[in-house]
Amino acid sequence: MRVLGIETSCDETGIAVWDAEAGLLAHRLHSQSGVHAAYGGVVPELASRDHIRRAVPLTERVLADAGLGLDDLDGVAATAGPGLMGALLVGLSLGKAVAFGRGRPFLGVHHLEAHLLAPALEDDPPDFPFIALLVSGGHTLLAEVRGLGCYRLLGQSLDDAGGEAFDKTAKLLGLGYPGGPAVAQAAANGNPAAFDLPRPMTGKPGLDFSFSGMKTAVLHCRKTASAPSDEGFVADLCASFQQAMVETLWIKAARALAETGLERLVVAGGVGANARLREHFASGAADLGAELFFPRPDFCTDNGAMIAYAGGRRLVAGECDGWDRTAVARWPLDQLAPPERIPA
Ligand code: KG4
Ligand code: ZN
Repeated sequence: MRVLGIETSCDETGIAVWDAEAGLLAHRLHSQSGVHAAYGGVVPELASRDHIRRAVPLTERVLADAGLGLDDLDGVAATAGPGLMGALLVGLSLGKAVAFGRGRPFLGVHHLEAHLLAPALEDDPPDFPFIALLVSGGHTLLAEVRGLGCYRLLGQSLDDAGGEAFDKTAKLLGLGYPGGPAVAQAAANGNPAAFDLPRPMTGKPGLDFSFSGMKTAVLHCRKTASAPSDEGFVADLCASFQQAMVETLWIKAARALAETGLERLVVAGGVGANARLREHFASGAADLGAELFFPRPDFCTDNGAMIAYAGGRRLVAGECDGWDRTAVARWPLDQLAPPERIPA
């Protein structure tokens, strides 16, 4: 089965073709960061309009890269949620149109399921079961993953998502958008021990997160600084913030491994692209004797490949949606079920 995957849930237009036997055949991404940079965050209406402009030409290019035409596709998958409603509807409508036009099955994909399955696109994919730590711009959660569609939520952020905390910190420090890469870049020249920022909710039991206090702590440091625009100050504060975030995420991920007795950890979502996080987790996992899996950095952030893969796995299992399938802005991960349990 050869599947076209379409991702338009937020500010990236991602298109890919995945083949159940040959793997990923082609993928392309168009980032809207230039569209939203001036606003310091994603403007939903501008996101929808840009997806409309980009999605069809990008699909044509991906098909050309793969040397395929629309008739060579066996199924189509598009992100159905969670995400920005207007943005989701663009990809979903394109996906349904292609599938309907060619008489192929269509499936709406859960964006977070796609994120946590993304390491399966790499050469050394994880076996089930594993713990997934998903840290993106919209979500931060820990889940026990026993198979495709078998997700038990262990903990989640009670307020800001991890990526959102990076984005807000960048905004507070005037570093621009998207904030994660900007903070990481500034942190490269800073001292991670310069500021003693909180590691929220690590001192008490449980696997939930809370990141809004970290942003307030950054704001306090900035307000009380003698030279808040000084490059060295910004570098030190970014490095300290990044370190606090990485340590907090690791403490909870290690706790999830200990509490479930599992020895495999998958880290996915945009913050998983962070180089300091990857280093810290690699050394922590080595100490625990646990196996650690990341998607390549480009597949940590939003992309079409993970949608083609996650949708493809379910389409191969015989699952498909009706033409009345619509987008859903909110869609809890643990509402998903394995393909065979979902009625046709
Ligand atoms: O998964 P993703 O692309 O989109 C959502 O589904 O939300 O994640 C985007 C988030 C943004 O908050 C972005 O600032 C963050 O991931 N991010 C990073 C890095 N690259 C992206 N955060 C820290 N370090 C990075 N290198
Ligand atoms: Zn995402």
